[in-house]
Formats: sequence, structure tokens, C-alpha cells
Amino acid sequence: MSLLTEIDRRKTFGIISHPDAGKTTLTEKLLLFGGAIQEAGAVKSNKIKKGATSDFMEIERQRGISVATSVLAFEYQGIKINILDTPGHKDFAEDTFRTLTAVDSVIVVIDVAKGVEEQTEKLVEVCRMRNIPIIVFVNKLDREGKDAFDLLDEIEQKLHLRVTPLSFPIGMGYDFKGIYNIWEKNVNLFEGSKRQEIEDSIHIENLESEELDQLVGSDAADQLREELELVYEVYPNFDREAYLEGALQPVFFGSALNNFGVRELLDCFVEIAPKPRPKESSTRLVKPEEEDFSGFVFKIHANMDPKHRDRLAFVKIVSGTFERNTPYLHVRNQKKLKFSSPNAFFAEKKQIVDVSYPGDIVGLHDTGNFKIGDTLTEGEQMEFKGIPSFSPEHFKYINNADPMKSKQLEKGIDQLMDEGVAQLFRLELNGRKVIGTVGALQFEVIQYRLEHEYGAKCSYEQLNVHKACWVDPEDANSEEFKEFKRVKSKFLAKDKQGQLVYLADSAFTLQMTQQKYPSVKLHFVSEFD
Ligand code: G4P
Repeated sequence: MSLLTEIDRRKTFGIISHPDAGKTTLTEKLLLFGGAIQEAGAVKSNKIKKGATSDFMEIERQRGISVATSVLAFEYQGIKINILDTPGHKDFAEDTFRTLTAVDSVIVVIDVAKGVEEQTEKLVEVCRMRNIPIIVFVNKLDREGKDAFDLLDEIEQKLHLRVTPLSFPIGMGYDFKGIYNIWEKNVNLFEGSKRQEIEDSIHIENLESEELDQLVGSDAADQLREELELVYEVYPNFDREAYLEGALQPVFFGSALNNFGVRELLDCFVEIAPKPRPKESSTRLVKPEEEDFSGFVFKIHANMDPKHRDRLAFVKIVSGTFERNTPYLHVRNQKKLKFSSPNAFFAEKKQIVDVSYPGDIVGLHDTGNFKIGDTLTEGEQMEFKGIPSFSPEHFKYINNADPMKSKQLEKGIDQLMDEGVAQLFRLELNGRKVIGTVGALQFEVIQYRLEHEYGAKCSYEQLNVHKACWVDPEDANSEEFKEFKRVKSKFLAKDKQGQLVYLADSAFTLQMTQQKYPSVKLHFVSEFD
């Protein structure tokens, strides 16, 4: 098949949600439709169990699962679908943000009873900033929840989206009778007794037909007719271009657990979701159909076996064809690298692959060459943009607790930072090392992994920092910047790239500093123009 045909038949997306909304269950049902798995329960949840947040083994268990579920690929109606896994736990939100740089669209899962939750708001905001096309799936309709119109309002207001329902529920909870498919203009009725199996539902093409009254009762049928009238009146018509630009978000309703409304979602998804999209690099916009291969690392996963230190770097292919045993340029290191056993992912298995195409993810065995954000090309000097680090919010000094193992500690910290577990800052004043993380759990992860994978011991010391911001002076020679550096010298540090960072000790000082030194811009993400 030609490169163009391969690009046209690929869709790479992520499912995002607040924990417990049903992401794992929906993923599993999508894989069942694709025939990639045969039974429910095959996809393991990657979430950290409630109440186990400080249990190292639980973190390790989660890490083990997340190798297996990093990329779940399957075929449906001739389309190759790659689902990229995103951790739900808020302490790992940065992983999710990075994965979102590798998806071409997302499905957001919302619990009908809980509505829009905190984690959903944050993740959708990142998608909106990048104009990623979004489809919303309202889940758990088999339970009592919010009224559909109220929920649509809430989604619009809290997530700042412009929605249009493409399916609509008939009843809810105990009275949940089925789904009207606005996209295909037919009705699927719910047979609660045959839960959790994939089967054909009852189709009614015409909404006005008597059959609908007979099947759901006249009251429910009339209510549905009225509600749909309102839907057509209030919400804009679906417009694919607007969806692709991130300006309109279709909404589906259903129950992932009962596999209801999922086929409607999937059938529409394969029709409307974008194929691999062009990506901006440091020099130009790179299009998938270009012949030369290019790609970037968005995730690094350390081997679970401490005896084998190698890691798996996940590369999203942006353009051209990736081939096994072909030398590619690692742009940051200016080194040519060849990969003899690149992995491709199918459902929950991985296998060695000879050729991969834009939209695909390849897993490359790495002995320490890669860090997150690295670009591979056929020789072109360009780097993909858009994998920033976010301002960490938890900070601790990190000390060596075993002087005999200082080399191991250095190496361990270095590699864990490359993996994106946390960020390392070095204070300008005295060179002390500070670890900054987005979540509190990471400190335990680092300590545990340093000991088990590198044989090094660390201890932490409290540090009172509210937020780290990247410093960007309008004029590096200005008196204002010099004064800023003098007055704030105790609070300045360098990140791993050597960028200057200001560690503000409170929200108040941060605000005062911004007011006092207006020409010194403070950024909350590490990448800025
Ligand atoms: P997550 O990955 O988003 O965190 O959610 P997950 O799929 O693990 O689902 C969270 C819980 O919600 C699970 O129950 C799951 O069975 C349930 N669930 C998912 N979809 C539906 C649905 O459509 N209707 C109903 N009623 N429940 C649903 P659990 O008891 O936490 O876990 P489990 O022991 O059943 O796996």
C-alpha cells in the first residue's frame, strides 16, 4: 500500500477523563469491537487504587500495567486505530499532557452523575489550547444522573466547548430505554438483560413510527420527540470542518459497561476523526505525506527488570515511513542511530515491526540516548516543538544518603529526569539540587526507583517554594533585569537545559515580583516564543 493510503487509514487518539468515569471500560469495549480482545476484563486499569496512594508496590503495579497499555492498536472497518493511554491520577497529569502532544484527537469521558470533574477540566483545557478535535462521551446512563440538557450546559460552561449532541438518551437509570442516534437517524433500544455483550440492537429508522411508541411506550416516545425538537433548535448542526478545527464538539451518550452507545460512538469516530495531522517544527510545518521520515519521543518507559537497564522510548511518527535497521539522525545529539528491533503495538501485545507509518507509535529500545521531546529525522536539522515542562508545584532538596553511591545517584537522577518523572533544578547560589514535581507521589517514586534500579539512596529536605517559573527578560542587559537577579539571587536556579528559573515562595511574592519587574516575563511552561 502507498504511504498516502496508509496515512488515510490511520487514527491516533487518546481517551481522557477524571478517574472512575469509565475510561478503561470504554477502551476495552472499543477493543472488543475491533476484535482485538475476546472478553471483557482483558484491559487492566492503570489507575492507582484508592487508599493505596503511598504504597510503592501499587505504584510499581501501575507502572507495569502502563507498559502494556501505553498504546492499544486495533483495526475496525479497515481503519487502523491507535489508542494512546493516559494516566488518570492527577499526580501523573504531566504524562498525560505529554501524551496529548502525540494524539490527533481525543474522546473525553464524563460520568453522567458526577458531570464535569476537576481533572477533566484541566485536560480539556490543554486540548483546547492546541485545537485538538474533541468528542465527548457521557457514560453510565444505566444509572441515575443529571438531565441531558443540564449536562450539555455544564459541559459548555465548565469546559468552554461548543457542543452538539449526535446521540440522545431515551430515559436514564432504571428507565434507561435506549439511544436515538442523531448521526444516523435511528434508534437503538437497550436490553438490560443481555448486559456486557456485543449484539445487534433494534433499529427504527423513522422517529415518527408507531413502532417506537410500542417499544418504549407513548410517553417516552413523545418525550423523545420533544427533546429532539429542542436539540435541533438549540444546538448547531454538526459540521466536520468545525469539529476538526476544535470549534465544535459532538456529544454521545451511553453506558460503556453495558456496551451501549459505544458502537454509535465508534462508527462516527472512524468517519469523522482526523487522520494524522501536520506538526510544527523549529523550522517549518511537517506534513505526514512527506517521504522523509520524522518523529519525536513523547514518552520513555524504564524497563521493569532492574537487571536490564534499557528503556523503551515511544516515538510518534510524524512523516514518511519508519524502517527497521535504517540509520536516523538523533537531532539533539547529532548522532545517527539504527534500530534493529523496533516494537509496534497491537492490542496489549508488542512485536517487532519492519515498517511503520505516520500516526503509528514505535517503541525503540534505548540505553540512555533519548529524552522526552527528542526528534529523529532522515538528516534534516529540525526539532519538533510543543512538549513543554509545566511549572512544578512540589519542591524538595534532594540529598545523597549513601556517599559510596554518588555516581549511581547522579546517573539515576539524570535518567529519571530524562524520563520526565520530575524536574531537577540547581540553585544558582550554592549549587544545591532541588527536585520539582507536579504531584506529591513522584517523590516516593523517585526514592524507590533510585534504590531499586540504581542502588542509590536519597533523602529529601523540605523547601518552601510555591511555584517555579521560567525567566524571560525583554532585555538581558537592562538595569531592571540586573536588579531582579540581585534581589532574587537566593531564589534563582537553572533547569536541566540551563534555562533560568525563579522559585517563588508564595503566590503573593510571585504577584509582587511580576508587578515590580514588568519587563522580566515569568512563564509557567518551559517553552515560550
Ligand atoms: P477509569 O478508567 O476512568 O478510572 O474508570 P473505569 O473504566 O475503571 O470505571 C470505573 C468504575 O465505573 C468501574 O467500577 C466500572 O465498572 C464502572 N463503570 C464503567 N462504565 C460504567 C457504566 O456504563 N455503567 C455503570 N453503572 N458503571 C460503569 P468499579 O466498581 O470501580 O470497578 P470494577 O471493580 O467494576 O472494575
